[in-house]
Amino acid sequence: MKKTLIVFAGKRGTTKEAAGRLAAALNGASTLNLAGPGAGRSALDGYDRVVLAGSSYMGQWNPSLVDWANARENELMGKDLAILELGMNKSESAAMQAQPRLSAHAQAYCKPGGCVHWAELTFMERMIMKMVNGKKGDASNLDWAELDAFGDQLKEAQ
Ligand SMILES: Cc1cc2nc3c(=O)[nH]c(=O)nc-3n(C[C@H](O)[C@H](O)[C@H](O)COP(=O)(O)O)c2cc1C
Repeated sequence: MKKTLIVFAGKRGTTKEAAGRLAAALNGASTLNLAGPGAGRSALDGYDRVVLAGSSYMGQWNPSLVDWANARENELMGKDLAILELGMNKSESAAMQAQPRLSAHAQAYCKPGGCVHWAELTFMERMIMKMVNGKKGDASNLDWAELDAFGDQLKEAQ
């Protein structure tokens, strides 16, 4: 069985929730929250596979995740790799734009959608969401079944 590390970075809770669900599906894969203590010093030795999981805002994949992956690009190129992108615009891939080399190397990619909790947004973010969605309020197009299918795909590659 491939020893898997899910490295995640989100702004609010969606990415964390998705990373936790994926870890459980992969029989308790390890997770690394880049917002947590000691994340910068984390070692990849001992892991066969890394899943990079991050949310996208304004067309940009999570900057902490991009920096973390850039600093370890060569090491990641030597491992099995999968990419999970959270975001409501399923027709664009900020992850592929930010990480073309790692994306080409990745065996699997999934963007199952995202969630917006209106109460957590800043004033500017509310303006943007109102412009994009044409309405106020919570919104979600997150397809958990798609995420679970991604987990199954990774499990089959164990
Ligand atoms: C201001 C704003 C901008 C966003 N821009 C994008 C975007 O460019 N592409 C996208 O796919 N989703 C976009 N989203 C949706 C978020 O990626 C989505 O809410 C995601 O679930 C957030 O994950 P997080 O809770 O882990 O931060 C945007 C959301 C907000 C509030």
